[in-house]
Amino acid sequence: MTATRVADAFGGGPSAIRRASMGAPSDAINLALGEPGWPLPDAAREALTRVAEADGRLPYGPNTGLPDLVEAVAAFCSTTSSAHSWGSRTDRARLTSDQVMVTAGSQAALFALFQAHVEPGSAVLVPDPGFVTYPQLARVCGADPITYPLAPNGDLDAEALVEVLGRTRHTGLVVLNHPANPTGGVASPSALAAVAEACARVGAVLVSDEVYRELWVDARPAGLHEVAGVEAGVVLGSTSKAFGAPGLRVGWAAGPAELLAPARLVHNAMTTAPARPSQQAALALLGAADEVLTEAREHVRTRWHLATGDPICPDRGPGLSPPGTRSARAGIYLWLPLPEGAGDDEAFALRLRDEGGVTTVPGSAFGARGRGHLRVSLGGPLDELEEGLRRLAPWWER
Ligand SMILES: Cc1ncc(COP(=O)(O)O)c(C=O)c1O
Repeated sequence: MTATRVADAFGGGPSAIRRASMGAPSDAINLALGEPGWPLPDAAREALTRVAEADGRLPYGPNTGLPDLVEAVAAFCSTTSSAHSWGSRTDRARLTSDQVMVTAGSQAALFALFQAHVEPGSAVLVPDPGFVTYPQLARVCGADPITYPLAPNGDLDAEALVEVLGRTRHTGLVVLNHPANPTGGVASPSALAAVAEACARVGAVLVSDEVYRELWVDARPAGLHEVAGVEAGVVLGSTSKAFGAPGLRVGWAAGPAELLAPARLVHNAMTTAPARPSQQAALALLGAADEVLTEAREHVRTRWHLATGDPICPDRGPGLSPPGTRSARAGIYLWLPLPEGAGDDEAFALRLRDEGGVTTVPGSAFGARGRGHLRVSLGGPLDELEEGLRRLAPWWER
């Protein structure tokens, strides 16, 4: 890889997301960060304490991850995939250990999968607007990121994706993200099935980034494996969002063993293995998943109610989100159209920050089709969110 390729992949200078925060007034409320703002669950805290208090060595872990953690991820993914009956996939067998890759965050899983499966000169289909890492990783591989649009409400639009796939040559990999960053959109079972079928037809590796899936408010969103089976592609999960532990840096990829095997080599070369204390904390989190995820969903539900107007306590929130545009509330992002006459989204985000005292991310940071929007993170501490939303509301009322 040349230095030029890296420069091309990441662009010169700080990213738009960085620019949104750089130089913010010290009293600005930060609603730009995409991470949970509630405390690390006790299960993880106690596991980390046990590691700190244990006598003796802290060895490298096995390259393939701590066996108990791999088992726990396999069980978690199998349970979550079979717990709901989307079509005929409720009888799925449990994942085997070679169908799980434990990684240093799902970010490292993405990196390893791209390096393993994306050839220079090929195409990678990525959502626009979408998580900024996807096109960067495609360019790092010397491939072309080709964007596909989402539905107007931010959900996956399978027809649009399949149309782009049909006219793009040499597509090596297709990325889905649902619930989505930044739009919060979800994917219907039929959309997932259609995309899986189209990818299989052209031999493209399908990666379904489902790191926000457990953070739902209205109904649990569909997942690729439960709709189309494990052979349909690789599903990404993480302890960073619903498990409330982004600093652990533990994530995973679940999918066909033959797709994970080469990615595992890349991941091992990059990290040797995820940090052992983090893996032990992740194991504890998965062991307490029912409790941890129920609590996380309560945190998210409270935040959504605050942001979109709580029917139970209507005086609590400014109700910024345009009603009726979402198919389901999930994830931690509010995707707001700018008020009329607001002009350029990056300039508007800077005004909101410097004059309004709230840092948000301009939609164009996530791709050209994100223009005219702002991403507001609901993830942070509740008091900050409440104050931040109070400061934002008048800008939509002018
Ligand atoms: C859509 C999406 N995928 C993956 C990641 C990476 O998460 P992690 O590496 O913490 O698991 C993020 C982080 O913000 C994200 O928003």
